[in-house]
This record gives sequence, C-alpha cells and structure tokens, in this order.
Amino acid sequence: MARPAPLDPALALLVNHSGEPPCLIAADENWAGFDWRSIAAATVVSNRHDIASAASRGGHRVLFNDFDFSALDGERFERALLRVSKERPLCHHLINSLAATLAEGGRLWLCGGKQDGIKTYFKQATGHFGGSHSVVAPLKKHAALYLGALANSGRTAAPLDAQHYPQLRSPAGAPGWQSKPGIFGWQKIDRGSELLINHWRQLLASGELAAPQRLLDLGCGYGYLGVTALAGLAAPIAATLTDNSATALLAARANLGQLSAAQQAAVTLVAADAADSLSEPFDTILCNPPFHQGFAVDGGLTERFVAATARLLSRGGTALFVVNEFVPLERAAAGRLKCAAMQRAEGFVLFQLWQ
Ligand SMILES: C[S@@+](CC[C@H](N)C(=O)[O-])C[C@H]1O[C@@H](n2cnc3c(N)ncnc32)[C@H](O)[C@@H]1O
Repeated sequence: MARPAPLDPALALLVNHSGEPPCLIAADENWAGFDWRSIAAATVVSNRHDIASAASRGGHRVLFNDFDFSALDGERFERALLRVSKERPLCHHLINSLAATLAEGGRLWLCGGKQDGIKTYFKQATGHFGGSHSVVAPLKKHAALYLGALANSGRTAAPLDAQHYPQLRSPAGAPGWQSKPGIFGWQKIDRGSELLINHWRQLLASGELAAPQRLLDLGCGYGYLGVTALAGLAAPIAATLTDNSATALLAARANLGQLSAAQQAAVTLVAADAADSLSEPFDTILCNPPFHQGFAVDGGLTERFVAATARLLSRGGTALFVVNEFVPLERAAAGRLKCAAMQRAEGFVLFQLWQ
C-alpha cells in the first residue's frame, strides 16, 4: 500500500501563530492531512473539498470555494496564515485577499521554502503592506523553511499581480476551453488525456465498447475528458463530473456550455474526495488520476482512485485510465480490478480496467 504524502512541515511552524480567534487561514492542497483539532477555532477558506471537510469536522468555520473572500463580508481578523502556494497568481491573490481582511495592526504570517519563492513573496508582500516598517517578524530560517510576518499599518500600496486570478479564461493551448490558474494543466490540453479520449472513441467506433449509459469523469479538472466524451455521443446520457477542487469544478461547469441543453441537464457536478460521496454504478469511468499533493508526490492518491473505480464500476463496465509510465497502476489495481495496458506512447500508459 503506497503511503500518503507526509504532512507539510511548514504547517507546524505557521500554526504556532494561529492563537486565539479571530484567525483566518487560506488552506490550499498543502494542508492535506493537517490535524485541525490541534488548533483553536479559526475561519478556514479552502478550494479543496477534503481539506474543507476535515477543517469543518475539526470545529472550524469553513468556506469551500475558489478562494473567494467576499463571503466574509468585510469581517476583520487579527491574524491570517498562508503557506505559500505553488501557483504564483494564486499566491498573489491570497496575499492580496488576506491583507484586505486584516484589522489595523493585524498580522499576516507567511511560510514556505526558498524553492517555493518565499523570499520573493515576502518582499512583494512587504511592498503591498506599505514598506519595511510593516515587517513585524522578519523572515527567519527554520531548517529548510522560512517564516515571517507583516502587520497592517493601514497604508497598503499596489496589490501583487494576481493575473486576474478569479476569472476564467480561454488559454491559447486549450482553445475553446474555460480554465484558470490553480487547475491541473490549466493552460493546455493534457496529452495523456487526449490519448485517452482518442482511444475511447476508437473502442466505440469499432464496436469493442457499447455506447455508454452512465459516465463518470473521475478527477475532472476543467472537464476535458467528460465534456469531450459527452460531446461526441449521439444522444444525451447521465453523467457525473467529480473533483476535489472548487476551482476545477467552477471551470468544468463553464465548459458544460459546449454541450446541448439536454446533455447539460443530464450532467451532475460533484465536489468529493476521490468520489467518496458517490454510490451509483457507472458503466464508463474515464480518469487521468492525480499523483501530486501540494509539493509532494502522493502514491496513495492513485490507489484511492483505483479503489473508487472498483467500487463504482458496474459489472460489464469499462474504466480507462491514463498515467505517466512510472505510476504503478497495475499494482494499485491488483486484487481490485482486472487491468490491461492498451497503449504506451509519449511517456504515458493507457489502461483498461474492468470487474
Ligand atoms: C491529472 S488531473 C486530470 C484532470 C482532467 N481529468 C484532465 O484530464 O485534464 C487530476 C485531477 O484530480 C483532481 N484531484 C486531486 N486529488 C483529488 C481527490 N482527492 N479527489 C478528487 N479529485 C482529486 C485534481 O484536482 C485534478 O483535477
């Protein structure tokens, strides 16, 4: 059994500064596995369903959305915590948004590694907070990590360039698709996913697979697999697109606009952790599973996606997975599903799975 990614050590440093309420935490994927019962009640904004659910079970007030802080309706906080994020536009959006929620004198704590860009983020945030006088805890090294804090002096300057983070856009590498920073491969169509769809179409055209009745796009991202598959069918079918990310589901919803009104009405979008809230059987499951969590590779995710497929795939149904060639999908499927490699190309392997 693959082990899940270890807990991010930056979190332990950051939460030393969570203190008594009111504290605001922006929790992206780096907060996976955090023990929310270990800190005083805070307000947590997360775009990850598993993290939002864990924080809610831990007794915190939670907003699950694409880091939209407007729902806080002008509320002010004494402290805000940010583990700097992988995506620069997202990190800039979070620094700008958290700064705007601070009471006068309220502190923003930033933590991350050098390779995560913490030094640049801290410098840029210092500019936004109005200059060096706002630095109340200069960046200090703790093993491989840096931690520092800025205080709201009421003199904020120009915001960091978040490249209009909240807005969906149509990237040049994925013409016709709505996407945005924070979504897997948001600027392009993933080559592995393209190979998967082409293979599935061939199976349908050759009659090797019967036309689907009920389709699941597992880990749908901005919806490429599900929407492309549905757009190619002669008649609408029931379909579910599911992902852990509110950001991904926002884009997937927009991309349903490519489908006929009847097909759109037959699609359900579900925020869930590896489809854990789904129970209906599907005769077709399409999946390009994740293997990263935050900055770490997480082999446990592949296993959980295969386990979800074993639970949700109908007898006689077919799942198609595409993975990078170093992902041990056969091992994850062993004892759960039958599995055959159908195609190897460009560093990807395409697998067919069945009961
Ligand atoms: C490799 S991407 C594939 C995205 C999309 N299907 C495509 O082909 O472009 C994997 C997707 O899994 C989602 N994901 C990651 N962890 C997840 C989890 N625990 N539960 C559900 N989805 C998850 C990510 O948000 C991402 O959209």
